[in-house]
Amino acid sequence: MSDDSDHTLDTYLQHAAMAPLDQDTGTAPVPLPSMRASTIRFRSLDALDQTARRKAAGSREQTYGRAGMATHRALEDIFCEIEHGSHAFLAPSGMAAITLALLSLLGSGDTVLVADCAYAPVRRLDQGVLSRMGIAVQYSRADAASLEQSLTPETRVLYVESPGSLLLEMLDMPMLADFARKHNLILVTDNTWGTGGLYYPLDLGVDVSVIAGTKYVAGHSDLMLGAVVLNDRALADRIDETHYAMGYAISADDVWLAIRGARTMPLRLRQSAAGGLQVAQWLAGQPAVKQVYHPAFPEDAGHALWQRDCHGSNGLLSIALDCDVKAARRFVDALTLFGIGFSWGGFESLVQLVNPGMLEPHGYWQGQQGRQLVRLYVGLESPDDLIADLRQALQALD
Ligand SMILES: Cc1ncc(COP(=O)(O)O)c(C=O)c1O
Repeated sequence: MSDDSDHTLDTYLQHAAMAPLDQDTGTAPVPLPSMRASTIRFRSLDALDQTARRKAAGSREQTYGRAGMATHRALEDIFCEIEHGSHAFLAPSGMAAITLALLSLLGSGDTVLVADCAYAPVRRLDQGVLSRMGIAVQYSRADAASLEQSLTPETRVLYVESPGSLLLEMLDMPMLADFARKHNLILVTDNTWGTGGLYYPLDLGVDVSVIAGTKYVAGHSDLMLGAVVLNDRALADRIDETHYAMGYAISADDVWLAIRGARTMPLRLRQSAAGGLQVAQWLAGQPAVKQVYHPAFPEDAGHALWQRDCHGSNGLLSIALDCDVKAARRFVDALTLFGIGFSWGGFESLVQLVNPGMLEPHGYWQGQQGRQLVRLYVGLESPDDLIADLRQALQALD
Protein backbone atom coordinates (compact mmCIF):
# COMPACT_ATOMS: atom_id res chain seq x y z
CA MET A 1 0.00 0.00 0.00
CA SER A 2 1.11 3.51 -0.67
CA ASP A 3 2.56 5.43 2.26
CA ASP A 4 0.30 8.43 2.70
CA SER A 5 2.71 10.32 4.95
CA ASP A 6 3.78 13.84 4.02
CA HIS A 7 7.35 12.81 3.25
CA THR A 8 8.76 13.70 -0.11
CA LEU A 9 9.64 10.88 -2.49
CA ASP A 10 13.35 11.52 -1.77
CA THR A 11 12.83 10.80 1.92
CA TYR A 12 10.41 7.92 1.39
CA LEU A 13 12.89 6.09 -0.83
CA GLN A 14 15.69 6.25 1.76
CA HIS A 15 13.51 4.59 4.39
CA ALA A 16 11.66 2.09 2.22
CA ALA A 17 12.64 -1.59 2.02
CA MET A 18 14.72 -1.70 5.20
CA ALA A 19 15.18 -5.03 6.97
CA PRO A 20 12.89 -5.28 10.05
CA LEU A 21 14.62 -5.27 13.44
CA ASP A 22 15.09 -8.67 15.05
CA GLN A 23 12.66 -8.97 17.98
CA ASP A 24 15.29 -10.50 20.30
CA THR A 25 18.46 -8.60 19.47
CA GLY A 26 16.96 -5.29 18.36
CA THR A 27 19.32 -5.21 15.37
CA ALA A 28 19.00 -5.57 11.62
CA PRO A 29 20.95 -4.92 8.47
CA VAL A 30 19.93 -1.67 6.79
CA PRO A 31 18.74 -3.09 3.46
CA LEU A 32 16.20 -5.85 3.16
CA PRO A 33 18.10 -8.87 1.85
CA SER A 34 17.45 -10.43 -1.53
CA MET A 35 15.18 -13.32 -0.57
CA ARG A 36 15.79 -16.00 -3.12
CA ALA A 37 13.32 -18.86 -2.68
CA SER A 38 11.05 -21.04 -4.72
CA THR A 39 9.66 -22.86 -1.70
CA ILE A 40 8.18 -21.79 1.63
CA ARG A 41 8.21 -24.21 4.61
CA PHE A 42 5.33 -24.31 7.07
CA ARG A 43 5.85 -25.39 10.69
CA SER A 44 2.61 -27.42 10.66
CA LEU A 45 -0.59 -27.85 8.70
CA ASP A 46 -2.22 -25.47 11.17
CA ALA A 47 0.36 -22.83 10.26
CA LEU A 48 -0.34 -23.47 6.58
CA ASP A 49 -4.10 -23.15 7.13
CA GLN A 50 -3.70 -19.90 9.04
CA THR A 51 -1.51 -18.47 6.28
CA ALA A 52 -4.12 -19.47 3.69
CA ARG A 53 -6.87 -17.80 5.75
CA ARG A 54 -4.91 -14.55 6.10
CA LYS A 55 -4.20 -14.63 2.38
CA ALA A 56 -7.89 -15.17 1.55
CA ALA A 57 -8.67 -12.13 3.73
CA GLY A 58 -6.37 -9.99 1.57
CA SER A 59 -3.09 -10.17 3.48
CA ARG A 60 0.05 -10.50 1.33
CA GLU A 61 1.43 -13.81 2.60
CA GLN A 62 4.43 -15.80 1.40
CA THR A 63 3.20 -19.17 0.16
CA TYR A 64 5.29 -19.98 -2.90
CA GLY A 65 8.21 -18.35 -4.68
CA ARG A 66 6.32 -17.49 -7.85
CA ALA A 67 4.04 -15.16 -5.92
CA GLY A 68 7.09 -13.29 -4.62
CA MET A 69 8.84 -12.86 -1.30
CA ALA A 70 9.27 -9.90 1.05
CA THR A 71 11.80 -8.35 -1.35
CA HIS A 72 9.17 -8.36 -4.08
CA ARG A 73 6.55 -6.89 -1.71
CA ALA A 74 8.93 -4.06 -0.86
CA LEU A 75 9.40 -3.16 -4.52
CA GLU A 76 5.65 -3.35 -5.13
CA ASP A 77 5.23 -0.82 -2.30
CA ILE A 78 7.81 1.44 -3.92
CA PHE A 79 5.97 1.30 -7.25
CA CYS A 80 2.72 2.18 -5.45
CA GLU A 81 4.41 5.17 -3.86
CA ILE A 82 6.03 6.49 -7.01
CA GLU A 83 2.82 6.10 -9.04
CA HIS A 84 0.29 7.10 -6.33
CA GLY A 85 -1.34 3.68 -6.66
CA SER A 86 -2.51 1.07 -4.19
CA HIS A 87 -1.88 -2.17 -6.13
CA ALA A 88 1.32 -3.03 -8.03
CA PHE A 89 2.18 -6.14 -10.03
CA LEU A 90 5.76 -6.86 -11.04
CA ALA A 91 6.66 -8.13 -14.48
CA PRO A 92 9.95 -9.40 -15.93
CA SER A 93 10.22 -6.42 -18.30
CA GLY A 94 8.35 -3.26 -19.28
CA MET A 95 7.02 -5.07 -22.34
CA ALA A 96 5.79 -7.92 -20.14
CA ALA A 97 3.96 -5.34 -18.01
CA ILE A 98 2.24 -3.92 -21.11
CA THR A 99 1.26 -7.46 -22.18
CA LEU A 100 -0.04 -8.21 -18.69
CA ALA A 101 -2.25 -5.13 -18.65
CA LEU A 102 -3.70 -5.73 -22.11
CA LEU A 103 -4.26 -9.48 -21.71
CA SER A 104 -5.94 -8.89 -18.35
CA LEU A 105 -8.35 -6.28 -19.63
CA LEU A 106 -9.24 -7.55 -23.11
CA GLY A 107 -10.99 -10.64 -24.45
CA SER A 108 -11.87 -12.11 -27.80
CA GLY A 109 -14.10 -9.76 -29.80
CA ASP A 110 -12.85 -6.64 -27.97
CA THR A 111 -10.99 -3.74 -29.56
CA VAL A 112 -8.15 -1.74 -28.04
CA LEU A 113 -7.69 1.80 -29.28
CA VAL A 114 -3.99 2.69 -29.21
CA ALA A 115 -2.40 6.15 -29.43
CA ASP A 116 -0.18 6.29 -32.52
CA CYS A 117 2.75 7.55 -30.40
CA ALA A 118 2.95 4.38 -28.28
CA TYR A 119 6.22 2.50 -27.81
CA ALA A 120 6.81 0.75 -31.14
CA PRO A 121 7.01 -2.91 -30.00
CA VAL A 122 3.38 -2.60 -28.84
CA ARG A 123 2.57 -2.97 -32.54
CA ARG A 124 4.21 -6.40 -32.53
CA LEU A 125 2.10 -7.42 -29.56
CA ASP A 126 -0.97 -6.27 -31.46
CA GLN A 127 -0.18 -7.94 -34.72
CA GLY A 128 1.41 -11.11 -33.40
CA VAL A 129 -0.49 -11.94 -30.24
CA LEU A 130 -3.65 -9.92 -29.73
CA SER A 131 -4.90 -10.43 -33.28
CA ARG A 132 -4.42 -14.22 -32.92
CA MET A 133 -6.65 -14.03 -29.85
CA GLY A 134 -9.40 -12.23 -31.74
CA ILE A 135 -8.63 -8.85 -30.19
CA ALA A 136 -8.74 -6.02 -32.72
CA VAL A 137 -6.38 -3.05 -32.54
CA GLN A 138 -7.10 0.39 -33.86
CA TYR A 139 -4.49 3.19 -33.98
CA SER A 140 -5.36 6.85 -33.71
CA ARG A 141 -3.95 10.28 -32.93
CA ALA A 142 -4.71 10.86 -29.28
CA ASP A 143 -6.95 13.92 -29.69
CA ALA A 144 -10.67 13.76 -28.92
CA ALA A 145 -11.87 14.16 -32.53
CA SER A 146 -9.59 11.43 -33.95
CA LEU A 147 -10.38 9.07 -31.08
CA GLU A 148 -14.12 9.64 -31.50
CA GLN A 149 -13.83 8.64 -35.17
CA SER A 150 -11.91 5.46 -34.35
CA LEU A 151 -14.27 4.28 -31.63
CA THR A 152 -16.38 1.15 -32.26
CA PRO A 153 -19.01 -0.51 -30.03
CA GLU A 154 -16.36 -3.16 -29.26
CA THR A 155 -13.72 -0.73 -27.97
CA ARG A 156 -12.95 -1.59 -24.33
CA VAL A 157 -9.48 -0.18 -23.66
CA LEU A 158 -7.77 3.07 -24.61
CA TYR A 159 -3.98 2.59 -24.49
CA VAL A 160 -1.78 5.70 -24.58
CA GLU A 161 1.69 6.93 -23.72
CA SER A 162 2.59 10.46 -22.68
CA PRO A 163 4.97 11.96 -23.56
CA GLY A 164 5.05 9.68 -26.61
CA SER A 165 7.99 7.51 -27.47
CA LEU A 166 10.40 9.09 -29.97
CA LEU A 167 8.72 12.52 -30.42
CA LEU A 168 7.84 13.10 -26.76
CA GLU A 169 4.52 14.73 -27.49
CA MET A 170 2.41 15.48 -24.43
CA LEU A 171 -1.11 14.09 -24.42
CA ASP A 172 -3.96 15.81 -22.60
CA MET A 173 -4.40 13.13 -19.96
CA PRO A 174 -7.38 14.64 -18.08
CA MET A 175 -9.16 15.01 -21.45
CA LEU A 176 -8.36 11.36 -22.28
CA ALA A 177 -9.66 10.29 -18.86
CA ASP A 178 -12.95 12.16 -19.50
CA PHE A 179 -13.17 10.59 -22.94
CA ALA A 180 -12.58 7.11 -21.50
CA ARG A 181 -15.20 7.62 -18.77
CA LYS A 182 -17.76 8.95 -21.26
CA HIS A 183 -17.29 5.90 -23.52
CA ASN A 184 -16.90 3.34 -20.76
CA LEU A 185 -13.30 2.51 -21.67
CA ILE A 186 -10.47 1.48 -19.38
CA LEU A 187 -7.64 3.99 -19.81
CA VAL A 188 -4.16 2.45 -19.66
CA THR A 189 -1.01 4.53 -20.02
CA ASP A 190 2.67 3.77 -20.29
CA ASN A 191 4.20 6.05 -17.65
CA THR A 192 7.81 5.01 -18.08
CA TRP A 193 8.77 8.62 -18.91
CA GLY A 194 7.11 9.98 -15.77
CA THR A 195 8.16 7.32 -13.27
CA GLY A 196 9.79 8.85 -10.25
CA GLY A 197 7.55 11.76 -9.40
CA LEU A 198 7.55 13.49 -12.79
CA TYR A 199 4.00 12.61 -13.76
CA TYR A 200 1.14 10.96 -11.87
CA PRO A 201 -1.35 9.67 -14.48
CA LEU A 202 -3.42 7.85 -11.85
CA ASP A 203 -4.08 11.24 -10.21
CA LEU A 204 -5.23 12.58 -13.59
CA GLY A 205 -7.94 9.95 -14.05
CA VAL A 206 -5.99 7.10 -15.69
CA ASP A 207 -7.10 3.61 -14.59
CA VAL A 208 -3.88 1.64 -15.09
CA SER A 209 -0.28 2.84 -15.25
CA VAL A 210 2.42 0.66 -16.79
CA ILE A 211 6.12 1.25 -16.17
CA ALA A 212 9.33 -0.14 -17.62
CA GLY A 213 11.39 -0.29 -14.41
CA THR A 214 14.28 -1.21 -16.69
CA LYS A 215 14.81 2.54 -17.22
CA TYR A 216 15.14 5.08 -14.38
CA VAL A 217 14.01 2.80 -11.53
CA ALA A 218 16.74 0.25 -12.11
CA GLY A 219 18.88 3.10 -13.38
CA HIS A 220 22.10 1.23 -14.11
CA SER A 221 21.44 -0.56 -17.42
CA ASP A 222 21.81 -3.93 -15.77
CA LEU A 223 18.36 -5.47 -15.41
CA MET A 224 14.91 -5.80 -16.97
CA LEU A 225 11.77 -5.09 -14.98
CA GLY A 226 8.22 -3.82 -15.35
CA ALA A 227 5.21 -2.99 -13.20
CA VAL A 228 1.49 -2.44 -13.56
CA VAL A 229 0.09 -0.03 -10.97
CA LEU A 230 -3.50 0.97 -10.26
CA ASN A 231 -6.02 1.87 -7.60
CA ASP A 232 -9.25 0.17 -8.69
CA ARG A 233 -9.77 -3.06 -6.71
CA ALA A 234 -11.93 -4.81 -9.34
CA LEU A 235 -9.41 -4.12 -12.11
CA ALA A 236 -6.60 -5.20 -9.79
CA ASP A 237 -8.36 -8.55 -9.27
CA ARG A 238 -8.41 -9.07 -13.05
CA ILE A 239 -4.72 -8.25 -13.34
CA ASP A 240 -3.90 -10.46 -10.36
CA GLU A 241 -5.66 -13.42 -11.96
CA THR A 242 -3.77 -13.05 -15.25
CA HIS A 243 -0.47 -12.34 -13.45
CA TYR A 244 -0.89 -15.60 -11.53
CA ALA A 245 -1.99 -17.60 -14.57
CA MET A 246 0.90 -16.41 -16.71
CA GLY A 247 3.36 -17.40 -13.99
CA TYR A 248 5.24 -14.10 -14.04
CA ALA A 249 8.18 -14.49 -11.68
CA ILE A 250 11.08 -12.09 -11.24
CA SER A 251 14.43 -12.97 -9.73
CA ALA A 252 14.73 -11.64 -6.18
CA ASP A 253 18.20 -10.42 -7.10
CA ASP A 254 16.81 -8.23 -9.89
CA VAL A 255 14.14 -6.94 -7.52
CA TRP A 256 16.81 -6.18 -4.92
CA LEU A 257 18.88 -4.29 -7.50
CA ALA A 258 15.81 -2.34 -8.58
CA ILE A 259 15.17 -1.31 -4.95
CA ARG A 260 18.77 -0.15 -4.70
CA GLY A 261 18.34 1.79 -7.95
CA ALA A 262 15.08 3.36 -6.80
CA ARG A 263 16.73 4.90 -3.72
CA THR A 264 18.83 7.22 -5.87
CA MET A 265 16.27 7.69 -8.65
CA PRO A 266 15.19 11.25 -7.72
CA LEU A 267 18.81 12.39 -7.55
CA ARG A 268 19.70 10.77 -10.85
CA LEU A 269 16.55 12.15 -12.44
CA ARG A 270 17.42 15.69 -11.41
CA GLN A 271 20.94 15.45 -12.84
CA SER A 272 19.75 13.79 -16.05
CA ALA A 273 16.89 16.30 -16.46
CA ALA A 274 19.12 19.34 -15.93
CA GLY A 275 21.61 17.94 -18.44
CA GLY A 276 18.79 17.15 -20.89
CA LEU A 277 17.54 20.72 -20.81
CA GLN A 278 21.03 22.20 -21.17
CA VAL A 279 21.73 19.94 -24.16
CA ALA A 280 18.28 20.74 -25.68
CA GLN A 281 18.93 24.47 -25.38
CA TRP A 282 22.33 24.19 -27.00
CA LEU A 283 21.04 21.99 -29.83
CA ALA A 284 18.18 24.42 -30.55
CA GLY A 285 20.81 27.02 -31.49
CA GLN A 286 22.51 24.80 -34.09
CA PRO A 287 21.57 25.49 -37.74
CA ALA A 288 21.40 21.77 -38.68
CA VAL A 289 18.86 21.10 -35.92
CA LYS A 290 15.42 21.93 -37.29
CA GLN A 291 13.40 20.93 -34.26
CA VAL A 292 13.98 19.88 -30.69
CA TYR A 293 11.39 17.59 -29.10
CA HIS A 294 11.40 17.96 -25.33
CA PRO A 295 8.24 18.81 -23.36
CA ALA A 296 10.06 20.90 -20.74
CA PHE A 297 11.68 22.99 -23.47
CA PRO A 298 9.65 26.22 -23.74
CA GLU A 299 9.41 26.06 -27.55
CA ASP A 300 7.99 22.52 -27.55
CA ALA A 301 4.38 22.25 -28.75
CA GLY A 302 3.45 20.26 -25.63
CA HIS A 303 5.06 22.67 -23.17
CA ALA A 304 1.80 24.11 -21.78
CA LEU A 305 0.44 20.62 -21.06
CA TRP A 306 3.76 19.68 -19.49
CA GLN A 307 3.62 22.77 -17.26
CA ARG A 308 0.07 21.94 -16.24
CA ASP A 309 0.44 18.20 -15.60
CA CYS A 310 4.08 17.34 -14.86
CA HIS A 311 6.41 17.93 -11.92
CA GLY A 312 9.69 17.76 -13.78
CA SER A 313 11.34 16.18 -16.77
CA ASN A 314 14.11 13.72 -17.55
CA GLY A 315 17.04 13.31 -19.91
CA LEU A 316 15.17 12.22 -23.05
CA LEU A 317 14.94 14.43 -26.11
CA SER A 318 14.83 14.04 -29.87
CA ILE A 319 16.09 16.26 -32.66
CA ALA A 320 15.06 16.52 -36.30
CA LEU A 321 18.11 17.02 -38.53
CA ASP A 322 17.86 18.56 -41.95
CA CYS A 323 20.15 16.10 -43.74
CA ASP A 324 20.08 12.78 -45.53
CA VAL A 325 20.40 9.48 -43.74
CA LYS A 326 24.08 9.07 -44.66
CA ALA A 327 24.98 12.34 -42.95
CA ALA A 328 22.87 11.44 -39.91
CA ARG A 329 24.73 8.14 -39.68
CA ARG A 330 28.06 9.99 -39.79
CA PHE A 331 26.86 12.28 -36.97
CA VAL A 332 25.81 9.35 -34.76
CA ASP A 333 28.99 7.39 -35.44
CA ALA A 334 31.11 10.46 -34.62
CA LEU A 335 29.68 10.74 -31.09
CA THR A 336 32.05 9.39 -28.46
CA LEU A 337 30.16 9.90 -25.17
CA PHE A 338 26.71 8.83 -26.42
CA GLY A 339 26.62 5.05 -26.85
CA ILE A 340 24.50 3.74 -29.72
CA GLY A 341 21.67 1.87 -28.04
CA PHE A 342 17.92 1.58 -27.73
CA SER A 343 17.41 2.14 -24.04
CA TRP A 344 17.47 5.10 -21.65
CA GLY A 345 17.27 5.85 -17.92
CA GLY A 346 20.73 4.50 -17.06
CA PHE A 347 23.81 6.45 -15.96
CA GLU A 348 25.29 6.62 -19.47
CA SER A 349 24.16 8.77 -22.36
CA LEU A 350 22.73 7.04 -25.42
CA VAL A 351 21.80 7.88 -28.98
CA GLN A 352 19.41 6.24 -31.43
CA LEU A 353 19.01 7.05 -35.11
CA VAL A 354 15.30 6.42 -35.52
CA ASN A 355 14.27 4.23 -38.42
CA PRO A 356 11.94 6.33 -40.63
CA GLY A 357 9.56 3.34 -40.85
CA MET A 358 8.85 3.74 -37.14
CA LEU A 359 7.76 7.34 -37.69
CA GLU A 360 5.52 6.78 -40.70
CA PRO A 361 2.41 5.77 -38.73
CA HIS A 362 3.01 8.62 -36.29
CA GLY A 363 0.65 11.58 -36.93
CA TYR A 364 2.86 14.03 -35.02
CA TRP A 365 5.67 13.46 -37.53
CA GLN A 366 3.55 14.55 -40.52
CA GLY A 367 5.26 17.31 -42.46
CA GLN A 368 8.72 16.35 -41.22
CA GLN A 369 9.28 13.53 -43.74
CA GLY A 370 12.72 13.71 -45.32
CA ARG A 371 14.31 14.83 -42.07
CA GLN A 372 16.25 12.47 -39.82
CA LEU A 373 15.17 11.91 -36.24
CA VAL A 374 17.82 11.28 -33.63
CA ARG A 375 16.81 10.45 -30.08
CA LEU A 376 19.26 11.37 -27.35
CA TYR A 377 19.29 10.23 -23.78
CA VAL A 378 21.33 12.46 -21.49
CA GLY A 379 22.75 10.47 -18.61
CA LEU A 380 24.86 11.57 -15.67
CA GLU A 381 27.96 12.84 -17.44
CA SER A 382 28.81 16.53 -17.33
CA PRO A 383 26.46 18.32 -19.77
CA ASP A 384 29.41 20.50 -20.89
CA ASP A 385 31.31 17.38 -21.98
CA LEU A 386 28.23 16.07 -23.78
CA ILE A 387 27.77 19.37 -25.61
CA ALA A 388 31.42 19.35 -26.67
CA ASP A 389 30.89 15.84 -28.03
CA LEU A 390 27.75 16.91 -29.93
CA ARG A 391 29.58 19.97 -31.30
CA GLN A 392 32.40 17.90 -32.82
CA ALA A 393 29.96 15.25 -34.11
CA LEU A 394 27.75 17.84 -35.86
CA GLN A 395 30.76 18.72 -38.00
CA ALA A 396 30.49 15.24 -39.51
CA LEU A 397 27.20 16.32 -41.14
CA ASP A 398 29.05 18.47 -43.71
C1 LIG B 1 8.33 3.96 -23.16
C2 LIG B 1 8.73 2.53 -23.02
N1 LIG B 1 7.82 1.65 -22.60
C3 LIG B 1 8.12 0.35 -22.46
C4 LIG B 1 9.37 -0.12 -22.76
C5 LIG B 1 9.65 -1.58 -22.63
O1 LIG B 1 10.47 -1.85 -21.53
P1 LIG B 1 11.42 -3.14 -21.48
O2 LIG B 1 12.56 -2.86 -22.38
O3 LIG B 1 11.77 -3.27 -20.05
O4 LIG B 1 10.60 -4.29 -21.97
C6 LIG B 1 10.35 0.76 -23.20
C7 LIG B 1 11.71 0.29 -23.54
O5 LIG B 1 12.48 0.93 -24.21
C8 LIG B 1 10.02 2.13 -23.33
O6 LIG B 1 10.92 3.03 -23.78
